[in-house]
Amino acid sequence: MKRIPASALALALMLLAASCGQKKEAPKSKYPVVDSLMSVMTLEEKIGQTVLFTSDWTVTGPSMRDNYLEDIRAGRCGSLLNAYTADFTREIQRVAVEQTRLGIPILFGYDVIHGFRTIFPINLGMSCSWDIPAIERSARIAAEEAAAAGLQWTYSPMCDISVEPRWGRISEGSGEDPYLGSLIAAAMVRGYQGDDLAADNTLIACVKHFAAYGAPQGGRDYNTVDMSERWLREFYLPPYKAAVEAGAVSVMASFNELDGVPAHANAHLMEEILRDEWGFDGFVVSDYTGILEMINHGYAADLSDAARLSMNAGLDMDMMSAAYMNHLKQLIESGEVSEATLDKAVRRILEAKAALGLFDDPYRYCDPEREKARTLTEENKAFARSFAAESMVLLKNDGILPLKKGEPVAVLGPLADSKDDLLGSWRGAGEVEAVPVSVLGAVKEVTPVAAGAGKVILVIGEPWSWSGEAASRSDIRIPEEQRELLRQLKKAGKKVAVVLMNGRPLDLSEESELADAILEAWYPGTMGGYAVADVLFGEVNPSGRLTATFPRRLGQVPVYHYMKNTGRPYVHPEAKYESRYLDVVNEPLYPFGYGLSYTSFDYSAIRLSADGFSGDGSLTASVTVTNTGSREGTETVQLYVRDLVGSVTRPVRQLKGFERVTLAPGESREVRFTLDRETLSFYRADMSYGPESGDFLLFIGSDAATPNSAAFTYEI
Ligand code: GLC
Repeated sequence: MKRIPASALALALMLLAASCGQKKEAPKSKYPVVDSLMSVMTLEEKIGQTVLFTSDWTVTGPSMRDNYLEDIRAGRCGSLLNAYTADFTREIQRVAVEQTRLGIPILFGYDVIHGFRTIFPINLGMSCSWDIPAIERSARIAAEEAAAAGLQWTYSPMCDISVEPRWGRISEGSGEDPYLGSLIAAAMVRGYQGDDLAADNTLIACVKHFAAYGAPQGGRDYNTVDMSERWLREFYLPPYKAAVEAGAVSVMASFNELDGVPAHANAHLMEEILRDEWGFDGFVVSDYTGILEMINHGYAADLSDAARLSMNAGLDMDMMSAAYMNHLKQLIESGEVSEATLDKAVRRILEAKAALGLFDDPYRYCDPEREKARTLTEENKAFARSFAAESMVLLKNDGILPLKKGEPVAVLGPLADSKDDLLGSWRGAGEVEAVPVSVLGAVKEVTPVAAGAGKVILVIGEPWSWSGEAASRSDIRIPEEQRELLRQLKKAGKKVAVVLMNGRPLDLSEESELADAILEAWYPGTMGGYAVADVLFGEVNPSGRLTATFPRRLGQVPVYHYMKNTGRPYVHPEAKYESRYLDVVNEPLYPFGYGLSYTSFDYSAIRLSADGFSGDGSLTASVTVTNTGSREGTETVQLYVRDLVGSVTRPVRQLKGFERVTLAPGESREVRFTLDRETLSFYRADMSYGPESGDFLLFIGSDAATPNSAAFTYEI
C-alpha cells in the first residue's frame, strides 16, 4: 500500500491529483478536503471512519479492544476514546497520519464530565449553584485542560432530566427541571466549543444520552423507558434541544429503549426529531456497545442486523460494538444499507475533524509544554474552590453554623478524611494526588480538631461509587451505621453539623430530625475539602438551591415540582378519598429550589404590570427582595407559572425564570420577570406547541413551594 506523506499539504495535492481525472461534483462540504477525501476513499476506508474504539488507558464499559493500534494502522478505526496526554495521543496520531494510505487523523474523545484535571463538583452539584456563567466557565476550563492533553471531543453535556433518585446517573445531570436543564446544557456546549473549534483549547461537545435515559423504570440503570410523546417533548427533550441549538457537533444515543424501540435504532429520535425538526447536522455516536446491545433488547437478530438497523436509523459512529467494522461492507454490497447512507455518516465525521483543524495540523493538540502550563493552574483551582462552595446547599441550620474559627470541633464520619470521594464519579483525569486536603484536613487548618468537643462536624453520605453509571440503589438512605453514629452523638448531647457527600437526592427524614445542621456538599471536586470548610466557617455564605426534589421516603418517588393536581388533590388532612398516602404526607422533605442561607430574605407581594396580556404582548411581574439578616447573601429568586385550565392537564408549578441576586444586609432589590407567549407555551391537545387563553397563577419565591402568588389572564 502506497504510503502518504504526512503533511496535509501533500495530502491535499495528492487528493487534487487523484481527483483531476474525475468529473467535478458540486462541493458538498464547506471543507474542500472532505470532498476530496470522499472522492478517493475506498469502501473499507469509509467504514473505518465510522468506528470508535477505546484505548486501554481506562475502562468505561463492559468490553475492551486489544489491538486498537493495529485497527488504526489498518484503517479500521477512525476515532479513539479514553486516550489522553499530549505524548500518548501524538504517538497514536502518528500511526493514523503517517502509516495509513490517506493519513486521516484520529478524533480523540473522553468523558470530560465535570472537569478534566481540575475537577469541579459533580453535575448535580454544579446545577445547584444556578450560576449559569460559572457552569459555562467550568466547561471552558475543562476544555482548556483536556484539549492541551490531546483531546478534541468530550462526551458531555449529559442532558438527561430525571426524577429518579434511585438512578445512579442522576448525579451526572442537572436535576429534574427542563427549563434550568436547558440553560445549563447550552452553557456547557458554549464552554466546551468556544468560538473556534479549530483553536487549541476547544472541544466538540456531545449531547447525551439521547433520549430520556433518565426515566428508567424502577430507577434501575439501562431499564425500559416508556412515556407519552407529550411527556417526552414537554419534560425530557428540552435540554437536548437547547444543546443542539447551542451548536453541539455530536449527539450520543442512549442505552434505553423508548416506546419499544431502542434509541440506537430509533429513527423517530435520530432522524425525525433530531435532524428534521431540530436541524442537527453533526454526527451521532452510539454509546458503549450500544449497537450490539440491541440483540439483548430483542430488537436485532444478530450483529449484522443491529448494524443495519442503526446505520439506517441515522447512527453515524459505532462505539465499541465493532458492528460497522464487521458488517457494513456486506450490508452495502447486499444493498441492505446504501452507500449514500454510509457517505452521509462519513461526511459528518470528516467535517467534525476538519472543523477541529485536524487536517491542517493533526498534532496541534499534542504539545506537552502547553499541557503542563494549562493544567491545574492556581486560577483553575481557585475557581474550583469557589464554585464548589457555591454548589453546596444548606438544608438545615438551627444556628450551629457558621462555626467560629479557633473553637474546638470534632470532625468525624467515614468520609471526613477521604480525598478520593471528593472527586465523585466520572472524574475524568482527576487524580487523588492533586486533591490538597480532605474535609478534615481543611478544618484542621482553621481550628483545633478536638475529639471530645461539644460540636461535631459529621461527614457522611455515600461512597462515590454508589452513584454514576451502573450504580442504582433500591434504598436512598445513607448507611445504617452512619445514621447510628449520628444517633449516638445526639444521645451524648453533641451539637452536630452533618456534611453530606452523595450523588443523589436522599431520604434524610431521620437526619433532618436529629442533626442541628445539614450541608449538602455533593462530591465537590479537587478543592472540595477547602470549599466545605469555607462554608462551615462562614468564609462563604451558602447559596445553593436544590435542583432535584428530596423525598421524605422512597415511597413518595416520583415526587417533583411539576406534578399534576389530579381529580382528587390532597387538601383536607382528614379526608379519605383524596390523592394521598396513609403513612406520609405528599409534600417532599425538601422541595425543588430549596436552600438556606446564613442570612434571611423577605419577599414583597407580587406586583403585576397588568391583570393579563394577549397575543405577542407581555406581562411584567416583580417583587422586592430584602436581605433581612446580618450578612451579605445571594438569593435565587424563582418564578413559577401554573396554567389553571388547558386542553390537556397542566402541572401545578413550572419553573419559568430565576434571578440570582446578592444583597448586603438590609439591602432591597426589585426583581422583575417578563412573561410572554413562550412562557405559557406547551404541547396542546393536538400536539401543536403554543399557548392557550385562560387564567393563570404565577409564583415568585425562594423555592417551588412558595405561596407568594398572583393571578393573571392570557388571551391568544
Ligand atoms: C459509558 C456511558 C457514556 C460514556 C461512554 C464512554 O457507557 O454511558 O455516558 O460517555 O460510555 O465512556
